Amino acid sequence: MLTDLETKIKILKHNFRILNSDDDEVSAHIYTILSHDILFFLQTEAAKNQPIWDQESADFIELFNFLYNHKIIGLITEGEAKALYFLAQAMKNNQEPIIEIGAHLGFSTIFLAKHKLVQTIDNQFNDKLREADPLWRIFFANFYNDEFLFADIRDHETKLEICRRHWRLAGVFANIKTICGEAKEAAALMPRASMVFYDADHDYKSVHDLDAYFSKIVSHGVIAIHDFNEKTPGVIGAVYDFYLRNKVKLDGPFLIDSLIWFRVK
Ligand SMILES: C[S@@+](CC[C@H](N)C(=O)[O-])C[C@H]1O[C@@H](n2cnc3c(N)ncnc32)[C@H](O)[C@@H]1O
Repeated sequence: MLTDLETKIKILKHNFRILNSDDDEVSAHIYTILSHDILFFLQTEAAKNQPIWDQESADFIELFNFLYNHKIIGLITEGEAKALYFLAQAMKNNQEPIIEIGAHLGFSTIFLAKHKLVQTIDNQFNDKLREADPLWRIFFANFYNDEFLFADIRDHETKLEICRRHWRLAGVFANIKTICGEAKEAAALMPRASMVFYDADHDYKSVHDLDAYFSKIVSHGVIAIHDFNEKTPGVIGAVYDFYLRNKVKLDGPFLIDSLIWFRVK
């Protein structure tokens, strides 16, 4: 006997398969209708798996405040930054680097790179921010309540130049390697990894492509995905499907704000 949620998921997946092939928008709409249930399900699972959250955090707070004071900003919350920082720290004794997909201005990269070597991939590294996203000023203003409208971003720099300036200031420059390219294609070039952090395209198909990266993660490593929330139903759907496909190989999910992660057994 299927539970109510399982029935809904079955319908959802059935419709999604049909619509996904040529119309991402319609399928996204279906996910929006049903994603609350999936979200609730994964959140309930996540609640059973509380991460160790009371870790000594003076170093993290110092780093976070330093970046804030220098107007180095990104698209993750303080809680998410803290989770990335401690997850990366937990991988310290592991030889394999961390792979980040989606660096933007290099903010999340800094928290990953404090204790580990990070290989980060972004398809807009060679673009200037204004060209990559003409609405960025408005976007930043909304996201950061005007306070960050004058974030330390210089229009003439490419995203990679902005990243490098940020990484030098934060003292993590030597720990970061970059690839400018498409996530899907870059996967083949990647070494084995202790952790993969995904924060690039947010549609179902792109997140689904994460499987190529998942296969790189060593035992006891971590896979973390950002924007697991109702605003990006494609992420919820793809993460949920990922979870169903790989359940036996995963511990978790764990969740803080809209960062969801699993430990690889
Ligand atoms: C949401 S931003 C990343 C924010 C960053 N993690 C932070 O918190 O500061 C997404 C980034 O992913 C990059 N991106 C989007 N689609 C991509 C793709 N298919 N391959 C590689 N990078 C991609 C974009 O250029 C953008 O810089």
